[in-house]
Amino acid sequence: MSTTYFDHERSASYDRRATRLLGGLYRRVAADVAAVAGPGAVVLDVGTGPGRLVHELAARRADLVLGGVDLSTDMVALARAAAARRAARVTFEVADVTALPQRDDSVDVVVSTLSLHEWPDRRRAVAELRRVLRPGGVLLVYDFRFARVERELFSDFVDVRRVPVRPKWWPVAVFVGVRASAV
Ligand SMILES: C[S@@+](CC[C@H](N)C(=O)[O-])C[C@H]1O[C@@H](n2cnc3c(N)ncnc32)[C@H](O)[C@@H]1O
Repeated sequence: MSTTYFDHERSASYDRRATRLLGGLYRRVAADVAAVAGPGAVVLDVGTGPGRLVHELAARRADLVLGGVDLSTDMVALARAAAARRAARVTFEVADVTALPQRDDSVDVVVSTLSLHEWPDRRRAVAELRRVLRPGGVLLVYDFRFARVERELFSDFVDVRRVPVRPKWWPVAVFVGVRASAV
């Protein structure tokens, strides 16, 4: 049994809505990830939900080593089921953003979409993302504008900049993105 907000019913309902509404966002973010990920790069999607972004990336870049983590066991079950249907070579694990199973300096690109607004301790979470990123690795975080993604969160990173996010069919002002490099 999952103890998170995203239990079985909510996870399945989110997955259906995400499929209908968020395809443009996943394609846009996948393009951003693909632009910064070198050949064979290790990419981790944090708060992956049903894993739609990971699957979009797998379809684009067979060379990437793709993984996703999420606090919700039900979301991870959906992501794994989709991976099995597609015979995709990707891995999904249950984990909290503040206690990731990845080793220090082991990931080339950390990406996260629409999850940060649910993290109770953003500072600790971003420190954990920094821990798993190798020096020179890239962090890409996207969320709704209402999440107010503070620039100070990324004070341990360099080259911190806002990324414009305008997926097709969405009003311009809905999403915000931040790109930062680990040192
Ligand atoms: C709105 S969904 C977004 C899912 C996916 N990234 C997407 O864009 O479709 C937010 C996800 O963040 C996950 N989440 C919330 N708090 C988390 C935490 N502390 N650690 C890991 N994942 C978390 C939730 O379980 C949920 O699957």
